[in-house]
Amino acid sequence: MKKIITVVGARPQIIKAAAFSRAVKKLGEGVLQEVLVHSGQHYDEGMSQVFFDEMGIPTPAHNLAVGSGSHAAQTARILEGLERVFSEEKPTAVLVYGDTNTTLAAALVASKMFIPVVHVEAGLRSFNKRMPEEINRIATDHVSTLLFAPTQTAIDNLNREGFSSDVNHTPTIDQPLVLRSGDVMYDNAIHFANRPEGDVYLKSLSLEKERYAVATIHRDNNTDFPDRLNGILDALQHWSSEHGMPVVLPTHPRLLKFLSESQQDNLHKAGIRLVPPASYVQMIALLASSRLVFTDSGGLQKEAYFVQRPCVILRPETEWVELTAGGHAIVADADTSRILQAARQLMNRSFEAWPQLYGDGHAANQICQSIIQYL
Ligand code: UD1
Repeated sequence: MKKIITVVGARPQIIKAAAFSRAVKKLGEGVLQEVLVHSGQHYDEGMSQVFFDEMGIPTPAHNLAVGSGSHAAQTARILEGLERVFSEEKPTAVLVYGDTNTTLAAALVASKMFIPVVHVEAGLRSFNKRMPEEINRIATDHVSTLLFAPTQTAIDNLNREGFSSDVNHTPTIDQPLVLRSGDVMYDNAIHFANRPEGDVYLKSLSLEKERYAVATIHRDNNTDFPDRLNGILDALQHWSSEHGMPVVLPTHPRLLKFLSESQQDNLHKAGIRLVPPASYVQMIALLASSRLVFTDSGGLQKEAYFVQRPCVILRPETEWVELTAGGHAIVADADTSRILQAARQLMNRSFEAWPQLYGDGHAANQICQSIIQYL
């Protein structure tokens, strides 16, 4: 029996782990065992436990409880903790998601212990190395043995960095295998759509279908710089008064740290409804009934697309270039007038086609089968 350790830590990884855990349960019997490890990078109930409960994810066998800190301190604590866990568990491989400090730490520890690294969401690039996530994803890809790329763009990025697309060899860290898998987040969006808890949530907020926008802001590049944060918040207030619709903003703890109580009151008065972080089912329901989405989250950009909602991207660039190429999303950064202009453009456009850019909803099954086959 092969043993795979899946390492999660931040909210989006916990969500992605749900899809892979379902696949291992279905396809792995007798051949593949999954051991889940939580770094504890995210630790608030609403940022972590709620997803385990709602999405039926197994309880982690180990929780390192590293908590917050500078990038170095947080990453260092995860490195040390994982070395202990991997020595004890002796896994066949270690699976990591995305681009967080947890991803980087797990990939470094495993590769130096000669344990093959499986990177899900490989090949994504923003081409902006001032983002900690860009460093994390490049470093992780380059110590991985199996790279699962969600899109053709991701495959192209890997090829440009010297990764071969040849699949006729046994994968090693020196000759890794690149496979196009589709996106496990799309698997989840299908699996968890239209749940009654979603309707209950919308009712509790008294929201009318397509009569509100959803916004999220959590990147340090936006929250930690008052000019940028104010640029975004001004745009949201303008949009709300222009259309007479509220903007629902589930708050990441990092954002709340930068908003005083009086600022929060003023935002409420201006139509920005700050609400606690949403669960996964709540978020999908919130997006699906909205008129428009404003976000700096990579995951939410795609989730908006999955439920066919246009999106204003509150960043200088995006890794998910298919979204902007098709006109379903527009990059507007933190600039008030660009954000408002993008919102107007998207609201005036009618979208006939939402092509399947992210696979067929079975990405996790494919990843699971490939792990069984290749490792
Ligand atoms: C991390 C990831 C980012 C991902 C995001 C999803 C890195 C470098 N970044 O960013 O790629 O998009 O998660 O949310 O790994 N905090 C709490 N409670 C929590 C979690 C965080 O209060 O449960 C606060 C802490 O004060 C912390 C801050 O939020 O300092 C930021 O958390 P951190 O994990 O460092 O990064 P994120 O901004 O969440």
